[in-house]
Amino acid sequence: MMAASLATSARGRFITFEGGEGAGKSTQIKLLAERLDATGLRTVVTREPGGSPGAEIMRHLVLSGMGKLLGSATESLLFAAARADHVKLVIEPALERGMWVLCDRFADSTRAYQGYAGEVDPKFLDALERVTIGNLKPDLTIILDLPIETGMRRAAERRGKGPPDRFEDEAAGFHQKLRDAFRQIAEREPDRCVLIDAEGEPAIVAGRVWTALRDRLLTQAPAAEAISA
Ligand code: TYD
Repeated sequence: MMAASLATSARGRFITFEGGEGAGKSTQIKLLAERLDATGLRTVVTREPGGSPGAEIMRHLVLSGMGKLLGSATESLLFAAARADHVKLVIEPALERGMWVLCDRFADSTRAYQGYAGEVDPKFLDALERVTIGNLKPDLTIILDLPIETGMRRAAERRGKGPPDRFEDEAAGFHQKLRDAFRQIAEREPDRCVLIDAEGEPAIVAGRVWTALRDRLLTQAPAAEAISA
């Protein structure tokens, strides 16, 4: 009994990062993890699709372009299968151990990529969410927002001479839809989501991310007094 109640009170926080291609999520997650680690919180950085051995195999499948052959609805099933494994094997156990989980993309990416841009019925995605993530909702979702031209340029610089992956290869209209979708999600769920301007130097954007997190999660946390701005 005692152990169970202690574990519950020490549950970690679940923070997801979302945005279109080249938004700078991985850079920002790394900077945030370093900052949280410096405050004494324990962090786990993970990503989707992937994050667990089984889900990494599914990542390879979808990003290789195979998902495109199956169509967006079936592709959502692959993302959902990967997510179910990731939640069960990595995210939930880490939260239960009191870790702060920082995840590069989560269910909002399925909503934006397969739902809004891929035109998969939202009710179908609701059903998938019920079986894959149940009641697990992020405590905070950081949505990195920037003009699609900037994002596409950054993504092209990052990959150098390599070929674009399944989603980088989509036309500009697709990327505009993604941006609109993420902005709508932020507007619809203001308690969970914060839209961050992702243009500018990484350190400047990191400052915006930190302010959002501090205001929303650290002011009520027990350790808040020990953490300075
Ligand atoms: P990744 O190389 O991780 O790209 P990024 O740096 O943009 O996150 O590739 C993940 C791709 O998978 C990305 O294009 C978004 C897409 N995706 C979906 O379409 N649906 C999903 O549910 C998830 C998690 C990702």
